[in-house]
Amino acid sequence: MTRLSVNINKIATLRNARGGKIPCIKDAVVNCQKFGAQGITIHPRPDERHITRKDVYEIKPLITTEFNIEGYPSEEFLKMVIEVKADQVTLVPDTREQLTSDHGWDTWKNLSFLKEVISQLQENGIRTSIFVDPNINAIEGAAEIGTNRIELYTESYASLYPIDKNRAIEKFVEAATFAGNLDIDINAGHDLNLENLNYMYHKIPNLAEVSIGHALIADALYLGLETTIQKYLACLK
Ligand code: PXP
Repeated sequence: MTRLSVNINKIATLRNARGGKIPCIKDAVVNCQKFGAQGITIHPRPDERHITRKDVYEIKPLITTEFNIEGYPSEEFLKMVIEVKADQVTLVPDTREQLTSDHGWDTWKNLSFLKEVISQLQENGIRTSIFVDPNINAIEGAAEIGTNRIELYTESYASLYPIDKNRAIEKFVEAATFAGNLDIDINAGHDLNLENLNYMYHKIPNLAEVSIGHALIADALYLGLETTIQKYLACLK
């Protein structure tokens, strides 16, 4: 089974545009789960451009599924995710200014740093995931680090999919098979949508979880959140 974790950053982006409380993040968390989401993902950034620190603490008691928090492992970030007891933490190598995640970790270059962070999180009962490109060398590094999971950065799949879906999925199948043989579970995310999700699901049978935000929230503008979540869930069958 591949779980759908809904990334709600964009709902916070909309709320912050006016500086008020509409749309309400807490309602979004409750409703996404009511409509079938099997997890909630957030990516609190240091500049609080969408999810704020306050949101992180307010969301936690509303989680009935799985709370996945993404971010760069700064001291402040680690303290927060340990305090709120996230179910899963996905480490991304983002700089402060970055618009969105646009590359995976160089796991070998950051080996000792990531090893330390991963063991700190695991000691606190948090499942870990490291954001990586579909690259065998990076996955070997992830295995050496001892992470529970990797999250495959799927932007290159999504951009090639409309042109040549067979070629688009190749590297990902290879990476997922390689990781599976090392007993690392696999998540995937970035630019997944109603067109490209089902193909990925069929080609990567050991896909544990997808986290989807931008396209899903955009679809919800036209279809409504409930129908949209149902449609994404149908892609994972
Ligand atoms: N995974 C990571 C690490 C991300 O940073 C993001 C965007 O916040 C996603 C997945 C979801 O990407 P998208 O918003 O394109 O669905």
